Amino acid sequence: MGKIILTGDRPTGKLHLGHYVGSLRRRVELQNNGNYDKMFVFMADVQALTDNAENPEKIRQNIIEVALDYLSVGLDPEQCTLYIQSRIPELAELTTYLMNLVSVSRVQRNPTVKTEIKMRNFEANIPLGFFAYPVSQAADIVAFKATTIPVGEDQEPMIELTRELVRRFNQTYSPVLVEPEIMLPENATARRLPGTDGREKMSKSLGNCIYLSDDADIVWNKVKGMYTDPKHINVTDPGHVEGNAVFTYLDAFATDEDFSQFWPEFTSLHELKAAYAAGGIGDMKCKKLLNSVLNKILEPIRARRHEFEQDIPEIYNILRKGSVTARETATQTMDEIRTAMQINYFDDAKLIQTQAEMYQKK
Ligand code: TRP
Repeated sequence: MGKIILTGDRPTGKLHLGHYVGSLRRRVELQNNGNYDKMFVFMADVQALTDNAENPEKIRQNIIEVALDYLSVGLDPEQCTLYIQSRIPELAELTTYLMNLVSVSRVQRNPTVKTEIKMRNFEANIPLGFFAYPVSQAADIVAFKATTIPVGEDQEPMIELTRELVRRFNQTYSPVLVEPEIMLPENATARRLPGTDGREKMSKSLGNCIYLSDDADIVWNKVKGMYTDPKHINVTDPGHVEGNAVFTYLDAFATDEDFSQFWPEFTSLHELKAAYAAGGIGDMKCKKLLNSVLNKILEPIRARRHEFEQDIPEIYNILRKGSVTARETATQTMDEIRTAMQINYFDDAKLIQTQAEMYQKK
C-alpha cells in the first residue's frame, strides 16, 4: 500500500510564520521529494464552522487567503490535491458512523479540545458540533486512507483518536480503514514558534504574528518591536538567548549561508549566540539579521502571491477541480465502508435473494 499524505488548516485567517515552520515548509518538501503516492491538502471549513457558526462570512473570506498562502509557498495543484472540506459531503456521512464507535467521555479527555473550550469560554455551552470535531477530523483522514499526517503536536490527540477509531471500525466490521501516523515537525523550534511578543505561541488572537503576506515594511516593524532579553539593557551586558524570541526565530530560520551573506563576522548562529551571551552584541543588529533572513524566505513567497492574486477566478477553479478529484477518492472509500457495515442494501444481491426466498416460503 502506498504512502498517502493528508493535512489541512481551518480557514479562519491568513497563515503566518508559525504555520510555515510548523507545517507548510515540510509539506512543500514532501511534495517535491516525490516520496509519496498521493498528497491531499484541504481547507477545513466545516471544522472552522464548529466554533464560528454565526460568522460564516469570516470563513468565506479566508478560503481565498489560505489558498493564496498555499500556492505562494509552493504547493502545486498538479502534484497535490487542494480542496475544500465541505465540498466532500461523504465526510459528514462518515462522521455520523464513526460517532457510534467512541464514547462522550473519550472525546472529553482530548487535551486540545479542553484548551480550546477554555479559550472560547464555551464551558457551559459547548456546541455539539464543536465537541464532535475530533471525530469529524478522523473522518477527514480515513476517507482518504491517509497514512501520513504532517501536523503540529497540538494535533496529536486527534491522530490518536483517529487510530483508535480505525482499530475499532476494522474490528467491528471488516478491515477497510488505514491507521494513520502523525509526522511531527523535525525539530523543537519548528514545533512551536513563539509570538513576536515572546509569548508561547504565535496566534492571531494574541496579535503577535508575522504573516506570510506581510510586506517588507510591516515585517521590519514587527521584528523591530520583538521581545528579546529584558535584562540586556546595555550593549555590553551579557545577553540571554534562552526565551529570547529573536534567537528562537533565528534557530528556526537562519542558515550558515545567511551568516556569510548578512553578517560575515560570524560563521554560524552558534558563534553569534556565544558572542551575545558574552556581551557586546546589540539587539538591533540581531534584529537586522533576522529581518534579512526572514525577507529572504518571504520575498519569493510574496512575489508568487502577487502573481496568483492577478487571477482569483482561476484559484477557485483549482479548488473546484481539486474538490472533484478528492471526492472521487472519498466516494470510493465510502462504498467500501457501507459494504463493510452491510448497509449497501441495493448492491447486496445476497440479502435481497435470501429475503425473497424467505418470504416466498411463507
Ligand atoms: N485541526 C486542524 C487544525 O486546526 C485542521 C484539520 C482538520 C486537519 N482536519 C484535519 C489536519 C485532518 C490534519 C488532518 O489545524
